[in-house]
Amino acid sequence: MAALTVPYTKHMSLPVGSFLKIKGTPTMSFSKNPQLQVDFHTEHKDDSDIAFHFRVYFNSCVVMNSRQCGNWKEEVKTSVMPFKDGQPFELGILVLPKEYQIIVNGCQSYTFPHRIDPKFVKMIQVWRDVTLTSVNIA
Ligand code: GAL
Repeated sequence: MAALTVPYTKHMSLPVGSFLKIKGTPTMSFSKNPQLQVDFHTEHKDDSDIAFHFRVYFNSCVVMNSRQCGNWKEEVKTSVMPFKDGQPFELGILVLPKEYQIIVNGCQSYTFPHRIDPKFVKMIQVWRDVTLTSVNIA
């Protein structure tokens, strides 16, 4: 399957009940510290508020946050690392009424309580050191 262009930007809404599924592969070995970033923006602009920021430092940790009025808010950092070196991943983000649930390769791995109502999300971006085979919403 042809790879999607990275950074991948798509105008979409993510109402409660939707499930975003991202399939990709890190472009380098974890020892080189590749990253993956997923951002849920509230406008069709890179500098808009980010309801959910999910940044994976494959070699060490995952950071989640929101960005409001240009400012990063309280960072949530975890060393839970279900991603596997040299292997494709399937990242699912389920929008629940109170939180996002993040599922990696079928394992529920993280949660992030809503700080901005998910009804305001208008654009998603997926980028950094990954190739992407698909980004789907169900
Ligand atoms: C910063 C980083 C941002 C974002 C933020 C999350 O250090 O530059 O891209 O990841 O942390 O708290």
